[in-house]
Amino acid sequence: MVLGEESIMVAIAILAAGKGTRMKSTLPKVVHTLGQKTLVERVLDTAQGLQPERQIVIVGYQADTVRQVLADRSLEFVEQTEQLGTGHAAQQLLPALAGFTGDLIILNGDAPLIRPSTLEKLLKVHQENGNSATILTAQLTNPKGYGRVFCDEKGYLTEIIEDRDCTPEQRENRRVNAGIYCFRWPDLEQALPKLTTENDQKEYYLTDAVNFLTPVMVMDVPDEAEITGINDRKQLADAYAMLQDRIKTEWLLKGVTIVDPSSVTIDDTVTIAPNAIIEPQTHLRGTTTIGAGSRIGPGSLIENSTIGENTTILFSVVMDSTVNSGSTVGPYAHLRSAAVVGENCRIGNFVEVKNSQIGSGTNAAHLTYLGDATLGTQVNIGAGTITVNYDGQTKHHTNIGDRTKIGANNSLVAPLTIGNDVTTAAGSTIVEHLPDDCLAIARARQVVKPNWKKS
Ligand code: UD1
Ligand code: CA
Repeated sequence: MVLGEESIMVAIAILAAGKGTRMKSTLPKVVHTLGQKTLVERVLDTAQGLQPERQIVIVGYQADTVRQVLADRSLEFVEQTEQLGTGHAAQQLLPALAGFTGDLIILNGDAPLIRPSTLEKLLKVHQENGNSATILTAQLTNPKGYGRVFCDEKGYLTEIIEDRDCTPEQRENRRVNAGIYCFRWPDLEQALPKLTTENDQKEYYLTDAVNFLTPVMVMDVPDEAEITGINDRKQLADAYAMLQDRIKTEWLLKGVTIVDPSSVTIDDTVTIAPNAIIEPQTHLRGTTTIGAGSRIGPGSLIENSTIGENTTILFSVVMDSTVNSGSTVGPYAHLRSAAVVGENCRIGNFVEVKNSQIGSGTNAAHLTYLGDATLGTQVNIGAGTITVNYDGQTKHHTNIGDRTKIGANNSLVAPLTIGNDVTTAAGSTIVEHLPDDCLAIARARQVVKPNWKKS
C-alpha cells in the first residue's frame, strides 16, 4: 500500500484456531462451506485486495484439516496449540512477525461477508490518520452476542466489552466489533504480552489490546450484513441468504431477469450475460457462464458449464458440459462429463448425454442415452435409441456421420462407426460399421402365425 511517497508493508493474519463449539460439528468452524467455498477461504480471498506481503493463518483445533483446505495457497501457518482466546491466538504471531514494521490486519476466520472495498477503506483510514489501531464496527439492529464498542463523538475508541461482560446499560449500545482490525504491528507487539484473562470466559481477548494503544479509531461499515460472524448453523444459513441476496441483486442490476429470486441460488463464481432469464427453482453453480438471451429453468441445475446465447434449458441437469447457442435442452435431460452440444440442437425429453460431442443442428428429442459418442451435424436420433458403450469392462466409442438418421429404438453397439447420410431402420441393433449413404436394417423379420389359438 502506498501513502504519499512512503509505502507501508501490509500483513494479514486470519484467526482460524477455534473449535466453533456452537456449530456442534465434527469439523472446525472455519472449514464449513458457504456456497461451495469454506469460510476461511472466503476471508482469505477478500483480503487479497489488500495485496498483502505476508499472509498468516493461525490454526489450532484440527489444524491439519484447516491446513489441508488451504494446501494449494502460499500461506504461512502459525499454531495455537491451546485455544485460550483471540488475544492468545494473536500472541502466537509474535515470533513470526518479529522485526516486521508494517501494518497488520487481523480478521476473524468466521466473518466471510466482508467486502474487499471495506478492507481497503479500513487500511486507508488507518494510515491516513496515523492510527495505532483502527477497528471495523457496525451499528446493528440486533447486536446480541457481539462485543460492544464504545467511542467518543470523534470516533476515538474508549473500550470494547464482550456481550457477556456488559452491564445491561452497556448492552444497549448497538455499535459492535466486526472482528476485523488494522494494527500498527510494532504497537500491537508491545500490547499483546500485557493481556490478562479478567473476564467472564477467562480468555485472552484481542479486543483488550486497544486498552494499551493510542490513538484507536473506529470505522463503521454501513451494510451490517458485511460483518456477520458465524457461530452456529442458523447464522451460517442466514449468511448464505445474505450472500445470495447480494449476488442476485448484482445480476438483476446488470440486466439479468430472475423471475423469482427467492427460489433461485447462484454461486458468486457464475457469470450471466444481460437479457438472460433465470426461471424459478434454478441453481447455477461453480464456473458456469450463461449467454445472452438464454432462458434457464424452471427447475434446472447447471454446474461448471458453459451455456451459449439464446438457449433454453428446461427442468434439466447440466454438469461440466457445454451447450452452444440456439440449442434447447429438456424437459428432463441430463448432460454430464464434458458433453458438448453444438448450435441449434435439440436435446429433449429424458435424454442423457455423457462425454459426447454433438454437431450443430442435431436432434435427440426423446428417451435416449448418448455416451462416449461423436455425432456429426444435422443427425437425427430416433426415440429410445441408446449407445451401448460398455461391455462390462471397458467403455467404447460411437461415431455417427453428418445427416444420418438413426431410427427409433436402436441399440448402437460400440465400438462403432456409422457414416454420413445413413438411415437405420427402427428397432435395429447395429453391431457393424456402416458406410456412407446406406440403409441398415438389423432386426428379425416379423413372423405372423394365423389362427394361433385354435391350432
Ligand atoms: C469475537 C470478538 C467480538 C466480536 C466478534 C465478531 C473477541 C474477544 N471477541 O467474538 O468482540 O464482536 O468476534 O464476530 O475477540 N479463535 C482462535 N483462537 C481462539 C479463539 C478464537 O483462533 O483461542 C478464532 C476463531 O476460530 C474465530 C475467531 O477467532 O474464527 C473468533 O472467535 P469466536 O470465538 O467466534 O469470537 P466471538 O465470541 O464471536
Ligand atoms: Ca464469532
